[in-house]
Amino acid sequence: MNKKIVLRDDEIPRQWFNIIPDLPGGLAPPLDPETKEPIGPEKLAAVFPMGLLEQEMSPHRYIDIPDEVLDLLMIWRPTPLVRATNLEAALKTKAKIYFKNEGVSPVGSHKPNSAVAQAYYNKREGVKRLTTETGAGQWGSALSLATNKFGLQCVVYMVKISFEQKPYRKSIMQTYGARVVPSPSLETNTGRMMLDKLGDTPGSLGIAISEALEDAATHDDTKYALGSVLNHVVHHQTIIGLEAKKQMAMTGDFPDVIVGCCGGGSNFAGLAVPFVPDHLDGKTIRFVGAEPASCPTMTGGTLAYDFGDTAQTTPLLYMYTLGHDFIPPGIHAGGLRYHGMSPIVSALVRDKIVDPMQLPQTECFAAGVMFAKTEGIIPAPETCHAIAGVIREATREPEKPQTILFNFSGHGLIDMASYDKYYAGELFDYEYPAEAIAKSIAGLPSV
Ligand SMILES: Cc1ncc(COP(=O)(O)O)c(C=O)c1O
Repeated sequence: MNKKIVLRDDEIPRQWFNIIPDLPGGLAPPLDPETKEPIGPEKLAAVFPMGLLEQEMSPHRYIDIPDEVLDLLMIWRPTPLVRATNLEAALKTKAKIYFKNEGVSPVGSHKPNSAVAQAYYNKREGVKRLTTETGAGQWGSALSLATNKFGLQCVVYMVKISFEQKPYRKSIMQTYGARVVPSPSLETNTGRMMLDKLGDTPGSLGIAISEALEDAATHDDTKYALGSVLNHVVHHQTIIGLEAKKQMAMTGDFPDVIVGCCGGGSNFAGLAVPFVPDHLDGKTIRFVGAEPASCPTMTGGTLAYDFGDTAQTTPLLYMYTLGHDFIPPGIHAGGLRYHGMSPIVSALVRDKIVDPMQLPQTECFAAGVMFAKTEGIIPAPETCHAIAGVIREATREPEKPQTILFNFSGHGLIDMASYDKYYAGELFDYEYPAEAIAKSIAGLPSV
């Protein structure tokens, strides 16, 4: 048995996979918030390049990956598939546990898979400057890496609580030449309005997205990049699952259970969706999307049209949502604090292909520590949610000989402040109150 299953550089997938044509219930289109009619690419072209809008709406199952993108992905891809034998032994389970290690990228997570592609298409269309938001700082780091490679300027609106908790993420972005602004900021109308309204707020991804969008919409040479949620981001992340399929075939095993943590849904979907056609063809696969109890988008939210941002500037997306006003508590998995869920993952939950699972944060950190002690790698707090989900799956019926595959979405070496709080007993489990969710959901736009 090989501990690590690796692919040669020339075995890297050369196309991304688009699950949309295969979704049993289809995908509801994004709507123009003014007319409530499906929105066309021309309206979105102010903030996104055409190359990405074509992918967003593509009817094709496969999309070629440009050579310039492959060249950069090749710095760390293909990523290893690893059998977590030591974790299996510690759990006393008959389950085989495999993980796809996305923590080996230069910035430590899966995020550059899409950042590189997004920077490439913007550069190709003459864009000079990109704006974005970041929660945990992983996406901001990834886009900073990618914009630097393609010679673009980058401005990152970083959710204030993460800006304060993760100073080294900021240093990483600055190393690649990006400018990092804590959000809400005084630099945009939205930021100023939110500071007036909310005072000393931890911020949220919804607000940071509004700020980055406003910045892009008010500068001619600037476009906006989103690190999750949208279809094209999910497509870019499918390189994870496409590699994993080749690697699983080399082991002779096939996953019975696939687990990933869900913020906006991109790393989970990236691993999972290439396996969905197998499921639709009759293979039994349980797809588990792990989300925090404090931001229970799929398990506590509702499937509806909603804005992707707080200032209500995005098109309306049909997704599981806690309402665009929702400001989750400052839990340490900053990358999971988003009110919505990718429309693709939302459709898979609606079609009962994906089972969402809600996890409290102390269980997740305990799982992360166990993983570090057994497999040696310290997981990002977001990734701890996937590991906690895996542990639940592997120990529910420990005698069951099943194969579990999960996405190790990132390492936690820059997240040790969160671990310190966990060791100090300062992290507590928090379930977002149902009344607060109901209040936020009451503010959904009527469609
Ligand atoms: C390491 C890591 N995992 C997971 C996520 C969640 O994002 P998504 O659901 O889009 O994969 C993030 C987001 O910042 C992250 O940094």
